[in-house]
Amino acid sequence: MNVSDAIQQRRSIRNFLPTPVDAAVIRDILDIARWAPSGSNIQAWRIIVVAGAEKDRISQMALEANSSLTPKDDDPYPIYPPNLWEPLRSRRYKLAEDMYAALQIPREDKAARLQHVARNYQFFGAPIALFFVIDRRLGYGQWAHLGMLIQSVALAAEERDLGSCMQEAWASFRPQLADIFDLGEHEMVYCGMAIGHPDRSKPVNQFARERLTVDELAEFRGFD
Ligand SMILES: Cc1cc2nc3c(=O)[nH]c(=O)nc-3n(C[C@H](O)[C@H](O)[C@H](O)COP(=O)(O)O)c2cc1C
Repeated sequence: MNVSDAIQQRRSIRNFLPTPVDAAVIRDILDIARWAPSGSNIQAWRIIVVAGAEKDRISQMALEANSSLTPKDDDPYPIYPPNLWEPLRSRRYKLAEDMYAALQIPREDKAARLQHVARNYQFFGAPIALFFVIDRRLGYGQWAHLGMLIQSVALAAEERDLGSCMQEAWASFRPQLADIFDLGEHEMVYCGMAIGHPDRSKPVNQFARERLTVDELAEFRGFD
């Protein structure tokens, strides 16, 4: 698989087969992803990989702390700013509409939609979960650099015919995860990632995704 194919084929997988994935495969993926760039090569990175009973314990925690599902207004690291503006807001709604259409969950069925959101906390059935940890003292730059590591993990997984879903949904449980992982004073989970074998028969793993065109996202200056 070449890089272009890996980038285009990767999509967020929201329904996995229970087929186990060996630790050695994840180690191999991380051994590639660690070559991601970071400013001044500081590699302010930490990844916690969980499987089996450890993973179940985390899902159980989320199930029990269910009330935390609503984002807190005072979260100093919100996933989205309050009152997301256009056109970003509409894009966010479009993704939700496309995804729930694939899941055949109508807008009025709030309970079913919430149930799907809660599937995040079962890692959509994936056998492996990764948590990306960041030090709060770092600046915005380093958050972006961590993103390069995360995408590199997703692409290396793709190359091995595995699927992934990045999961900022885990931001709702940062304090609980810090306890479970015994994180240091300044550390917090930025986001999670489910990894496993995709169930490619499921429409939720098949719906068409949208992207800006090159002309919408880039401008070319100084070319003749
Ligand atoms: C950092 C990050 C966090 C994300 N968190 C979630 C999440 O919690 N749950 C989810 O279902 N999708 C999550 N996504 C997936 C996005 O919705 C998805 O990347 C976007 O809709 C584009 O679709 P694609 O990944 O299938 O190309 C996340 C993506 C990124 C980059």
